[in-house]
Amino acid sequence: MLNVIICGAPGCGKGTQSAMIVEKYKLKHLSTGDLLRHEIYNKTELGMLADAYISKGNLVPDQMIIDVLVQAIDAEDENNEGVILDGFPRTLAQAEALEEMLNKRGLETTVLLDLQVENRELISRLLKRGETSGRSDDNLETIKKRLEVYRLKTAPVSDYYKSIGKYSAIDGMGSVDEIFERISAELESKK
Ligand code: AP5
Ligand code: MG
Repeated sequence: MLNVIICGAPGCGKGTQSAMIVEKYKLKHLSTGDLLRHEIYNKTELGMLADAYISKGNLVPDQMIIDVLVQAIDAEDENNEGVILDGFPRTLAQAEALEEMLNKRGLETTVLLDLQVENRELISRLLKRGETSGRSDDNLETIKKRLEVYRLKTAPVSDYYKSIGKYSAIDGMGSVDEIFERISAELESKK
């Protein structure tokens, strides 16, 4: 079983690479950003609350997203060969909650893949996506805020996984296929 975390700054390619990983390794994709956007699209109470944070480039509160993730994991059928968590955990508190939740279920994180991309490239990818995405956070001001929040709150998550020997940095510059080859090589070594 592979329980993979894919993390990295906004626009680093988490969603793009997750789609390819899911296909090859038959994992279930759980993206907390996608789960929240689904709530926003359906205009649920949670969606309305979350949108106020997302559109400003802030993280939603830890407990809100932990509840969303626990529900999604528990709704899983057992026919997949693991999960890929995209965009979670994003704070130390989330990382600790995740590890506790997995332990309780007799599971563990296999590896955290940290996709590393230069800021200039991140901004250019997200502005390009913003031309068609309709996402309230794909504009220059909010992108800059997301990058700052990432450095402050999410970078320490990498240190946590380094400290438990489950961290792997992946060069996220280059073509989608080149990056996927690097990820595949890493995952093959963990199977
Ligand atoms: P989330 O949805 O996770 O957004 P993000 O981290 O800002 O990342 P993105 O989805 O924008 O980028 P990505 O890394 O998936 O890249 P992609 O593959 O799309 O979170 C959104 C918000 O929700 C957060 O700000 C927060 O408010 C809230 N939230 C979510 N999870 C939370 C949590 N755990 N705790 C608290 N709050 C939470 O690629 C980007 C673009 O680049 C695409 O157009 C793609 O086609 C293109 N691209 C990809 N790879 C390449 C390549 N190699 N070369 C050129 N272009 C490429
Ligand atoms: Mg994404």
